Amino acid sequence: MRVYLCKNYEEMSDLAAKTVLSQVLLKPESVLGLATGSTPVGMYERLCRAAEAGEADFSRITTFNLDEYLGIEPENEQSYHSFMKKNFFTRAKIKAESIHMPSGSSEDALAECTAYDEAIAAAGGIDIQVLGIGQNGHIGFNEPGAELSSGTHIVELTESTIRANARFFENEALVPKKAITMGMRSIMLAKTVMLMASGKEKHEALSGLLSGKITTSNPSTMLNMHPNAIIICDEEAYNG
Ligand code: GLP
Repeated sequence: MRVYLCKNYEEMSDLAAKTVLSQVLLKPESVLGLATGSTPVGMYERLCRAAEAGEADFSRITTFNLDEYLGIEPENEQSYHSFMKKNFFTRAKIKAESIHMPSGSSEDALAECTAYDEAIAAAGGIDIQVLGIGQNGHIGFNEPGAELSSGTHIVELTESTIRANARFFENEALVPKKAITMGMRSIMLAKTVMLMASGKEKHEALSGLLSGKITTSNPSTMLNMHPNAIIICDEEAYNG
């Protein structure tokens, strides 16, 4: 595991963007695993600027997002579909047919899970998986618990995640209670995983990850077993 300690959010975003840009430069048809949340917003901004300046070409990439709330239409402003459109897909001109996101409004959610895993495999797996980290150590929406699921699955969000994500909604009651998320297998099978952590609130979860110990009570710790994991964090997340 390579750990990069950055001064602040801006430096973290620069390094994360450079890592993704190098991946796409070396392999223009890369399969990118993408994350939502406030952490990667700065990275997406830099990727969009690079695309707009003609410094990056995303025309041949394929994308798979980690997760989506369940029971939410893609057009809903709070959906991860909307987030990705606004923060990356539109400005970077990602072709609609190259974009994959788990559907939060599918009538058969279980079939959706299987189809999602099959689509990732058919694309040849993920080259680089971008990850944020929840305050409780979740990655994607793989929440802490006695067990972790390997495949794409439906998850009940924990109280702490609902509380943490309430800032994106008008009030806490509007935060969906369930989500659909890529499981640990797709994440661990990504050739490279790049996790970003910023801010004091992430200190405890990040410390668990950096301790080198592995526990399902902090799903991010599984990355200790990944052969090519990059952790990019800022001083606040690292020092608390
Ligand atoms: C959300 C997402 C995760 C994200 C995490 C942290 O629940 N499902 O993919 O990494 O929470 O979000 P933020 O970056 O806003 O702190």
